Amino acid sequence: MTIGFFDSGIGGLSVLAEALRRLPAQDYLYMADTLHVPYGTKEKDDVKAYVMESVSMMMERGIDALVVACNTATSIAVNELREVYSLPIVGMEPAVKPAVEMNHATGKRVLVFATPLTLQLPKYYALVSRVDEGGIVDSLPLPELVRYCENLQFDKEVMAQYFHEKLSAYNLDDYGIIVLGCTHYPFYRNVLRELLPPHIQIVDGNAGTVRRLSALLTRSGIAHNGTGRVSFMSSGNEPAYLDKMQTALAFVRELND
Ligand code: DGL
Repeated sequence: MTIGFFDSGIGGLSVLAEALRRLPAQDYLYMADTLHVPYGTKEKDDVKAYVMESVSMMMERGIDALVVACNTATSIAVNELREVYSLPIVGMEPAVKPAVEMNHATGKRVLVFATPLTLQLPKYYALVSRVDEGGIVDSLPLPELVRYCENLQFDKEVMAQYFHEKLSAYNLDDYGIIVLGCTHYPFYRNVLRELLPPHIQIVDGNAGTVRRLSALLTRSGIAHNGTGRVSFMSSGNEPAYLDKMQTALAFVRELND
């Protein structure tokens, strides 16, 4: 069976890395919408059309289940995808709910990093209103981080400098958890771990997403008869980007070890 993973670029590889670890007996098809990355700074209706077009390309190649490994794309298009396609679909949203629950005891605040588009959509607003009774959630858009990641900019010093600037207005003593609400951001987990005070936990939705995928595969009777093979495709079909995806997958798998 082949599980499709979709993202605007290489971000979803951070989720695929988790799937390869937890569900090694599947085969995977990873697609990046290279013609339109990044999504997070574009118009909602345009992004919806890009997602629908990309997923239809994946369907032509043949997939048995789909993970929308992108918070932005999920916010905009997961409902429509579920209307159009009958295969099992797993979406992602920033892990605000678990973060608020985990933080309950400490009385500290939660800071959510995501793309500007994710943070401005009604879906995010509804999520925060539902789970944040105490008004402890703050949100910070980090559009540049997607660009850095797409350029494979993982230099510790450059990135630490960027985070210092972005966080300079925040008193980090007030915060207990940072949520990585974009799948490109876990590439910087180690850089963040080194620069954040040790009391701050860093949370992403990757493990939860793979748990949901696993449950859905079981429920749908999809067999675990693959070998962990990963094929790549991109909307622009650029050979150099196929190499980039391989490099980025190796990088993020190592981070998780
Ligand atoms: N990786 C995507 C997400 O999880 C979006 C990045 C982008 O294209 O702006 O939101």
